[in-house]
Amino acid sequence: MRLSGLVKHILGLGFVAVVTLGAAESVPQDEKARQLGANAAAELQRVLKEELTAALQAGGPGQAIRVCSQKALLLTRDIPQKMELPAMTIKRTSLRWRNEMNRPDAFEEKILTDLEARVKAEAPMEPVLLLQNKAYHYFEPIRTGGLCLTCHGSEEKMPENVRNALNALYPGDRARGYGAGDFRGVIHVTIPQEVLAEP
Ligand code: HEC
Repeated sequence: MRLSGLVKHILGLGFVAVVTLGAAESVPQDEKARQLGANAAAELQRVLKEELTAALQAGGPGQAIRVCSQKALLLTRDIPQKMELPAMTIKRTSLRWRNEMNRPDAFEEKILTDLEARVKAEAPMEPVLLLQNKAYHYFEPIRTGGLCLTCHGSEEKMPENVRNALNALYPGDRARGYGAGDFRGVIHVTIPQEVLAEP
């Protein structure tokens, strides 16, 4: 049930009203944005992992690279439709990008640089939420796990067919040389404020 305009008016926009009434719709906007961002990021990671695991099992890493290169962007762009929020956008990006399409813009570069500084200072890594130009920007940090190193790890340990496939597809590849647990980049989810506004 939505709060009527009158009730809202009487209670004001204070946090107390939210707690007292406990209606789902009265969750503050930034909290809704955070939840949507986290859900979108989790769904993207789930889908990519599923696809990656299936491709690795079917044809090994050389084959999986082709699948990644053809499907990762499409699967990413599919998330807003799947969540029935076509106004939302989602992107994977990194200071050391592999695919030119994932290259950070100036805003993303700033966030990535800040997060990297946090990693260097061994500060805990948490998602970032910002409100800018009438849109919420949610950034989910990504780290490299063991599975990732086959294609993002050190040059010397990389299987030859993986190196060859990467060289052929991504001549300007910067996304190698990571170790387990390294900060790899972010999932950036943009949610226009109007999506969250109550009617
Ligand atoms: C089979 C090889 C392979 C494995 C394993 C792999 N990746 Fe990738 N990764 C790629 C390729 C190819 C791309 C470029 C495809 C694209 O996004 O268009 C990529 C792109 C990315 C990007 C997007 C930014 C960029 O550099 O373009 C991120 C972030 C990323 N990978 C993280 C991971 C993480 C985290 C893991 C482990 C869970 C992982 N990858 C495992 C091959 C792989």
